[in-house]
Amino acid sequence: MTLSIEHLSVSSGEKKILDNVSLQLHKGEWFALVGQSGSGKSILSQSISQMLPPTLVAEGKINFNGENTLSLGRKRLKEIRGRKIAYIFQDYQGSFTPFRTIGAHFQEYQKVHGIKDKRVRKVKAIEALESVGLGEPFYKRYPFQLSGGQLQRASIALTLLLSPDLVIADEVTTALDSVSSHRILQLLMKKQQETGCTILFITHDWRHVRKYADRLAIMKEGEIVEFGNKHHILHNPQHEYTKQLLKAAPVLKEDEVEEGALANDLVIS
Ligand SMILES: Nc1ncnc2c1ncn2[C@@H]1O[C@H](COP(=O)(O)OP(=O)(O)OP(=O)(O)O)[C@@H](O)[C@H]1O
Ligand SMILES: [Mg+2]
Repeated sequence: MTLSIEHLSVSSGEKKILDNVSLQLHKGEWFALVGQSGSGKSILSQSISQMLPPTLVAEGKINFNGENTLSLGRKRLKEIRGRKIAYIFQDYQGSFTPFRTIGAHFQEYQKVHGIKDKRVRKVKAIEALESVGLGEPFYKRYPFQLSGGQLQRASIALTLLLSPDLVIADEVTTALDSVSSHRILQLLMKKQQETGCTILFITHDWRHVRKYADRLAIMKEGEIVEFGNKHHILHNPQHEYTKQLLKAAPVLKEDEVEEGALANDLVIS
C-alpha cells in the first residue's frame, strides 16, 4: 500500500477547508490524525476515495497505489471503495438497515463486490463474525438485537471482510464507553496485525493516540501543523498548538489505559 497526499486543497466556494495538505502514510502503520473540531480531519479522510459532498472542490493529488484517486472515474472508484479503501464510521448504526439481519448485510456487501456463491458468502460472513468475537448466532440477528459495542464489532468485521489495504476509522469509539472503546481498538489492532492493513485513525482522544498510534499529524484550521513519530511529538512537540493540545490532554501514560478493566472482560481471542 502506498498513500501520498500531495498539496491537497478543498474549498467550498471562497472558503478553504483544507489548505495545501501533504502527508504520506506507510504500509501497515497506525496513523492518527488529531485536531480540534472543524479542523478538516473528516474532509481529509473523505477526499481519499472521492467521498466529498459535490459542493466541495478538491485540488492537488492523492496517490494511492500508483493511481490519483482525485481523477478516477466512478467505475474504478466503486472497485476501490471497500476492497482497497474502507471506512469505519462513528455512526455504525447507520451502516445497518434495521429490518435486515446482520447476515443479509454481509451477503449484500460481498455480492456487490463480486462474490457470487451464496454459500461461500455465508461461510465468509460467519468466519468474519467469529473473528470479532461474535459467533454464528449473530448471523441471524437483527441490528437492534446487538449492543452498541457488538454492532460496532460487526461493522468492523464487515469493513475488513475484503481485506482492504487502507482502513479509515473516523472517531469510531466516540459513542462507546471507555471499556468498549478499548475493546474495539484492540480488535482493530489485532486485525491490523493479521492483515497488514494501514490504519488512518481520526480521534480527539490522546489516550488512544498514546496507546495505538505509530505516527500522527496534528491539524488546525485546514492545515497540518506538525507530523511525525508519536514518541517524538509526545516528548518533544515543536509547534505551539501541539503543546497547547498536549497540555489540555489527560495525563495518562501509554500503558496505563484501563488495562485492568480490559483484562477482566476481553472476549476477543
Ligand atoms: N458539505 C460541506 N460544505 C461546506 N463546508 C463543510 C462541509 N462539510 C464540512 N464543512 C466544513 O469544513 C470544515 C472541516 O470539517 P470536518 O468535518 O472535516 O471537521 P473535523 O475536523 O472532522 O471535525 P470533528 O472533529 O468535529 O469531526 C468545517 O468548518 C466544516 O464546517
Ligand atoms: Mg470529523
